[in-house]
Amino acid sequence: MMPPAAGDVLAMAGEQVLDAARTAWPGAEVEPGPVTPSVTSYVQQLDVDGHRLYAKLSVCGVSLVSVLRGALGDLATVRARQAAYLVTPGSLMQREATQLRTLAGPAALGAAALAGYARGVLFTEPVAGATLAELVTAEPGRTRELLGLVVTDVTEGLARDGVAASVEQGQIRERGIVDTFARKFNGLSGPAYLRATGYGDVLDGVVTRLRRARRAPTLPGGRGIVFGDLKPEHAVFPDDRAQRPVYLDPGLMRGHAVADMAKLTSRTVLGFIGRPPAPEAARMILTGLDSFVRSCARRLPAAEREAWLRALLALVLQDTTNILTTYLTAPADLPLSAHATGVRDHAREVTGLLDRATAPLMATADGPTLWRLYLARAREAVHA
Ligand SMILES: Nc1ncnc2c1ncn2[C@@H]1O[C@H](COP(=O)(O)OP(=O)(O)O)[C@@H](O)[C@H]1O
Ligand SMILES: [Mg+2]
Repeated sequence: MMPPAAGDVLAMAGEQVLDAARTAWPGAEVEPGPVTPSVTSYVQQLDVDGHRLYAKLSVCGVSLVSVLRGALGDLATVRARQAAYLVTPGSLMQREATQLRTLAGPAALGAAALAGYARGVLFTEPVAGATLAELVTAEPGRTRELLGLVVTDVTEGLARDGVAASVEQGQIRERGIVDTFARKFNGLSGPAYLRATGYGDVLDGVVTRLRRARRAPTLPGGRGIVFGDLKPEHAVFPDDRAQRPVYLDPGLMRGHAVADMAKLTSRTVLGFIGRPPAPEAARMILTGLDSFVRSCARRLPAAEREAWLRALLALVLQDTTNILTTYLTAPADLPLSAHATGVRDHAREVTGLLDRATAPLMATADGPTLWRLYLARAREAVHA
């Protein structure tokens, strides 16, 4: 079986986006614009009667990297499955459309405005502004404040009346850290997949340790709604309303709030390992992150703090492993974002961080110690 070539899959997706736009706006003039590199979905800007929109499409509900590695078969098979997937009720993009409405409605959060949905394609209005990632890089001294603002905003929003009931109708579990880790590394193909990263020798041990550590006690209060893909690229601060973030790419699901903290932490750290700021700025970002995480832990009852920090660490390290291996196994013909390229170029630092930060998981259950060791390793990884 020949895995499909990136060019063919992206061309198929591009045609499907145009078809969907013509279905949603019959008679309108539709002009394709630039494609945003992604390892997950096909994202492209379009002009519809001169109005700029973002279009987003999922190929069969799995990541583009999996499709291009042949997980669904050759190009003909992918085409056939995708034709059916586009019109499947409950497809990923249809759930995302509903979730954007949930964010703007009952959650009363800023969210990318839904412009339409047709034939498996989600259309959103462009959100302008600086992302949390950009703000932290530009003003490292505000790291703690900015992380706090986003986490408080999301937590309050997702706890509002009607949110859980609405999410219940269509969770997006595809982005969940634990589910993703299990999908990638529990199967028989795990070892071969790890070898394909080029860092199999180190990552084998990392995955083994994380799988053992996963059998940790569950935390109290775990059935709330979490954002699911709370990366620093998904919170945008429009210039005119600097205090109120607007969110992109929700993956709302039932879970424990620690999962959102974990994603924010792991992606913040990965982001600047991939594109290192000046050492002084990196030190300030890590100090802000440390101070924020400790303040969250302090707000919990003393008896829960330990387990919370330990759960946070296990999730941070799983998420880092998930995304690093995706970037490392992406086929050479798939265009990558600057973030993904940066992480790939610093894979040695990231695998070193994972190797050394997972080692103590076997030796100690002491959450604060695990957190301290992770931060120390992160400092080394960015030479801060
Ligand atoms: N409505 C939008 N406004 C501004 N940027 C967007 C919008 N939709 C997508 N993007 C850009 O495209 C990137 C990828 O889109 P996203 O929805 O996050 O898809 P993926 O599932 O591939 O991560 C985002 O991180 C953001 O940079
Ligand atoms: Mg995204």
